[in-house]
Amino acid sequence: MNPDSQLKQSSSRLHAAIIMDGNGRWAASHGLPRLAGHFAGAKTIRRIVAAAPALGIGTLTLYAFSKNNWERPAEEVGGLMRLFEDFFRTEREWWIEQGVRLSVIGRRNRLPSPLLMEIENSQYLTRGGERLHLRLAVDYSGQDAILDAAQRLDSGSPATRERFSSLLAQVVHAAAEDQNVDLLIRTGREQRLSDFLLWEIAYAELFFSPRYWPDFTPEDFKGIMEEFWRRERRFGRLSPALEQPPLAEMPLPVSV
Ligand code: IPE
Ligand code: IPE
Ligand code: MG
Repeated sequence: MNPDSQLKQSSSRLHAAIIMDGNGRWAASHGLPRLAGHFAGAKTIRRIVAAAPALGIGTLTLYAFSKNNWERPAEEVGGLMRLFEDFFRTEREWWIEQGVRLSVIGRRNRLPSPLLMEIENSQYLTRGGERLHLRLAVDYSGQDAILDAAQRLDSGSPATRERFSSLLAQVVHAAAEDQNVDLLIRTGREQRLSDFLLWEIAYAELFFSPRYWPDFTPEDFKGIMEEFWRRERRFGRLSPALEQPPLAEMPLPVSV
C-alpha cells in the first residue's frame, strides 16, 4: 500500500468500484414497485460488466447489498435474496464466455443457503476467467471488515499496511491482490460512502453520477473513465511539473 505499489497498480489494469444506488427511486419514477427497480438494476450490471475490460478495468467491485440493507422491509430483502440467487445462476454461463471471474465479498453466514450454493458454484465455475475480476459485495460493511481484521492482528508482530490489507481481504473472502481501488463511482445522486470499502479507497478518485443505477449506461462509464485519465493522481507527492532538481544542482540562495 505504499505510493509506489499504488502507482504500479494504477499503470496496469484498474480497479473500479461502484455503489449501484437509485433502484428504488428509478422504480418510483416509473410508477413501479421497488423490486422492479432492482430487476432493472441487475440488467445494468450485465451492460457495465460487458463494457469494463475495454475501458481498462481489470477488477470491478459492485456494492449489491450492505449490512444495513437488512433493515429494509422483509419483502424487499427476501425479493433481493431471490433476485441474487437467480442472477448468479443465469449470469454464470455468460461470465464464462466473457472471461469473467466472479468473487462475492462480505459476510456469508447470514445468507440463505440456496443463495450460498449459487455463489459457491458461480465462483468455482468462473475461476478460470482472466479478462475481468468481478467482485460483488453482499452483506458487506467496511467498518465491520476493519474491526474483524483488527481483531486478527497478531500482537507479536508489527502491524504493517500490507499485513492489515491481507487480513482485511481474508475477513471478507477476498483476494489480497485486489484491494486498492483506483476509482469509486456512486450513482443515484447521493454523495456518501455508505460503509463501502473504507480502507481500500484511501487514494481512489471519486465520481458521483446523477443517474439512477438502472439508467447508468456504458457511455456514462466511458465518460467517467475519460475524466479519470484527465485527473492527476499525486499520492501526496508534487506534480512532476513542480518537482525541483536535487539540492546539489540548485543555485545557492543569494545572501543579503
Ligand atoms: C440500491 O438502490 C440497491 C440496494 C441498496 C440494494 P436503492 O434500493 O437504495 O434505491 P434508492 O436509493 O431507494 O433509490
Ligand atoms: C448503498 O446504498 C448500498 C448499496 C448500493 C448496495 P443505500 O441506499 O443502502 O445507502 P444509503 O442508505 O442511501 O446511505
Ligand atoms: Mg439507496
